[in-house]
Amino acid sequence: MTPAGASLLDRLAGIGAEGHAAIGEASDAAALESARVEYLGRNGQLARVMSSIGTVEPAARREVGQRANAVKTSLSEALERQDRHLAAAARAPSGGVDLTLPARGRWVGGVHPVTRVIDEICDIFAELGFTRVLGPEVESTWYNFTALNIPLDHPAADMMDTFYLDDDTVLRTHTSPVQARVMEAFAPPVRVVVPGLAYRRDSFDPSHAPAFEQIEGLAVDEGVDFVEFRAAIQHFVRHFFGAGTKSRFRPSFYPFTEPSAEVDVSCAVCRGSGCPTCKRTGWITIMGSGMVDPAVFEAVGYDPERYTGYAFGMGPARIAMVRHGIPDMRLLYEGEMSFLRQFV
Ligand code: DAH
Repeated sequence: MTPAGASLLDRLAGIGAEGHAAIGEASDAAALESARVEYLGRNGQLARVMSSIGTVEPAARREVGQRANAVKTSLSEALERQDRHLAAAARAPSGGVDLTLPARGRWVGGVHPVTRVIDEICDIFAELGFTRVLGPEVESTWYNFTALNIPLDHPAADMMDTFYLDDDTVLRTHTSPVQARVMEAFAPPVRVVVPGLAYRRDSFDPSHAPAFEQIEGLAVDEGVDFVEFRAAIQHFVRHFFGAGTKSRFRPSFYPFTEPSAEVDVSCAVCRGSGCPTCKRTGWITIMGSGMVDPAVFEAVGYDPERYTGYAFGMGPARIAMVRHGIPDMRLLYEGEMSFLRQFV
């Protein structure tokens, strides 16, 4: 290549480098426009190189022309990029972040509404001195039934309700067997709450699930009486459902408590006047409970002459339904994100 051709190629390289620098440094539209005029304009540096292409020997013109076109294309692209960049920065109120762009969704996990209910209940009982303990879901018929004064021919032990794994082993049908396990392992006084899953041969329907949470409670000591029992439950109801909530004890029957009671709270939705949530009664049943039957103390080796206690069992899924006005228990167990997202 002739000296003229070589020097034009050098100039083109310089124009490319300087042009890119000038475009990149342009901090507003006016600076960008003067960079464009300087390098790509009608009388700009690139145009001047092109107009002197006639000084190059014909054989080298083609290479110079191609190189000049490449520089032109790359500077034009850089100019457009910088123009878009400046426009976006101008839209953004500060710091080059465009706050008008739609946000990209960020998924944040949350605690399941039933788990939240369980934690709150256990925390309230913790204030009263109850320790949170767990027990096995695969349970012997002794702990699940016999130790709790439920004879194996009782309807609750029947094949209709219970998942039997073999003749002596079941999926626990309630968390109550942990009462017996705790009393066997620890001398009184005991105060425990036991959250966990229980299993029954029920199909899913709006108010049943074959696997569902329960929370068991047990308090045993010398001199524990119905008054302490009532006070503990009322403390729980006021703290969990709100200060204005009324509670009542309704006589009931469980083999492991005597006397037994179901605890109802005034319906938070209608404040007692009657609505679909409380089936127009004004009351919602939240737990089974009672004073521990002496037969249970005997089964676990506690002296029934010396010790008394109370026990209770409740269903956190049902309580979550009442709290949030959820009409169908299946919603709590299907893991549908569009539903669960409401509680995050
Ligand atoms: N285990 C009972 C059930 O699953 C609930 C229950 C009732 C637990 C009374 C108790 C109690 O501890 O005292 O239906």
